This record gives sequence, C-alpha cells and structure tokens, in this order.
Amino acid sequence: MSAIILAPSRADESRSQARATDVILTGDRPTGSLHLGHYAGSLRSRLALQGQCAQTLLIADLQALTDSSGRAAHVARHVLEVALDYLAVGIDPAQTTIAVQSRLSALAELTVLYLNLVTVARLERNPTVKAEVELRGFERDIPAGFLCYPVSQAADISGFRATLVPVGDDQLPMIEQTNEIVRRVNRLANASILPECRAMLSSTPRLPGIDGRKASKSAGNAIPLGATSDEIRRLVRAMYTDPGHTRASDPGRVEGNVVFAYLDAFDPDPATVNELKERYRGGGLGDVALKRRLADVLEALIAPIRGRRAELASDRAYVMDVLRAGSERASVTTQAVLRDVRKAFALDA
Ligand code: TRP
Repeated sequence: MSAIILAPSRADESRSQARATDVILTGDRPTGSLHLGHYAGSLRSRLALQGQCAQTLLIADLQALTDSSGRAAHVARHVLEVALDYLAVGIDPAQTTIAVQSRLSALAELTVLYLNLVTVARLERNPTVKAEVELRGFERDIPAGFLCYPVSQAADISGFRATLVPVGDDQLPMIEQTNEIVRRVNRLANASILPECRAMLSSTPRLPGIDGRKASKSAGNAIPLGATSDEIRRLVRAMYTDPGHTRASDPGRVEGNVVFAYLDAFDPDPATVNELKERYRGGGLGDVALKRRLADVLEALIAPIRGRRAELASDRAYVMDVLRAGSERASVTTQAVLRDVRKAFALDA
C-alpha cells in the first residue's frame, strides 16, 4: 500500500505540537462514514503523528448510542465502516491501535466511578452538551447517558493515560471536564495516578458542508472519503460560492465561499490558491473554472483512498481481525488504569 502524502507544512504543524513521550487517544462516533471534514480536522494529524507517538483510535460505539439508541443496528454496522475509513486513509494498525469502545469493559467501569465526581449541574453547563441538546431537540427529555457522555469520554481519555487529544474545537469542553475529573481522582488517590491531557487543534478552520452549513453525513452536505468521481464532481458543482458573483467578470467574495474553504484545506499549492483569490476578488475568474480546479484536487486526494477502501471492504475478515487485536491490546492498558482507580476509591484495599 502506498503512503498518503501530507502537505509538509501541515504534517510539521501536527508533529510540532507533540512530544515523543505523548500518548495520543482520539475517537469517532460510528454514526456514518467519515468525510473530508474529519480528514482536514483530525485524520490528517493522526497520520502525521503515527509512528512518532503511541496512538490509539477509539471507535466510540457506546457514545454513539447515547443519542442514537433507536439506531443500534446502524451504529453497529458503522463500526466496520469507520475502521475501513481509518485503514483507507493510511492508518497502520502496526503503529496505531484501533479499538472498539464497547469491547473495553474497563471504560464502562471507570465511567461509573467517575460519575461520583461530577455534578448534574456541571454536566448541564458543558457547552458542547448544551449545543448538542439543542441541535437534537431533546428539550427536557435528555437521555441520562447523553448528559453523562463527557464523563464516559473522560474515561476513554484517562483509561489510556492519554496526554494529547487531537480533536475539533467543539471538543475543548470535553478536555476541560476530563482534566477536572483527573485532578479529583488524583486527589482521592493522594498521588498522581492519571496525567492531565491537552487538546491538539488543527489550524485548518472547521470545514463547512457544501451548503456552507455544518457538515454532516445525515444532512447530505459532506463529501465522503469513499466518494466516487461522479459524486465529487456533483457535490463540488453544488457548492455555495458567492450569490452576488453571477458572471465570471464580476468581483467575487472569497470569505464564506465554500470552494475556497476546501482549496485552503486541500490544495497542495497554496501560492496558486492565493493568486486565484486575488483574481476572484478583482473579477475575471468564474465559478466553473474554480470548481474544476477543486474537483481535480479532491479527486487526486480521494482516488487512492477510494481504491484502498474498496480493496479492504472485500476482505472483512482482515478488518475484523484488526479490531479484535487492537481491542485486546487496549483492554490490557485500560484494565491496568482501572486497577489504579479502583484503589483510589478504596475498592481493592
Ligand atoms: N466525542 C467525539 C466525537 O463526537 C468522539 C470521542 C469519543 C472522542 N471518545 C473520545 C474523541 C475520546 C476524543 C477522545 O467525535
């Protein structure tokens, strides 16, 4: 399998935020296949860090159930899809552990213990939870598991003694809440048994959906990592640009223009993108030509991913094996942490 080539500046950016001693843990809810937003936001830094630090990717199926219990079969099916996405972009299971959250019973036990260290009021104040409650229209009917998922995420992170968590900026409140819990556990234990962690943010701003709104699989406004050439062209053609830019000769807006957001994130030649921005602003560059460039850039990025994804999808036994081996390895790590935390709670004194 050929390696994924990262634009050097972006790979350096990720590497410079990590120390060789860092332990990296991050995860994704298996509610759909991954898309270019995941790639720009976190997959790319995971690839850059692979081999440099100990790294685990957690497929967070239990977390997915906290807002999708009615879609359990869908979640179960997507565990494998997310694993395929990881492997297809170049995550190497010999260097990065891929584990399934529900197979790590230590994480569930840690969650139960940590729940005693957090108040309901604190959970209700978590800005990410608040925003998601609103988005999902839960109002007063918030599933208790959903309200508590930051605690389970603290168990995920601390269960690996992770020190660095590559996430989107929407996850910063989770990191903060994890560190609060870690400090409380350490106070209980009267020793520093768990490390605090820091977030690793990508400098690429959050990638919008093709309509300029938040990208999501369910809204159909994201470009999947397995997109066909036709899909790529169709989605790029439908991209929101500048509604005032009707003729190529008109001056156009670059800010808020989705095509430029994607070019900024993925075009390997930023100098040319800057020239295109100047021409677009001044008038004289049409949307059709601009979109053609973007479609070519995305095709070059996605084609090898799509090819590997198809190859791997025909060998499900291999993918299941990767998940089994990764989960077993992760289970050893998380059980050791659980033993220490149980002692802090005087359970095995
Ligand atoms: N909350 C993350 C998301 O919605 C997924 C996740 C679960 C995660 N556990 C994690 C991220 C631990 C970082 C660390 O995408």
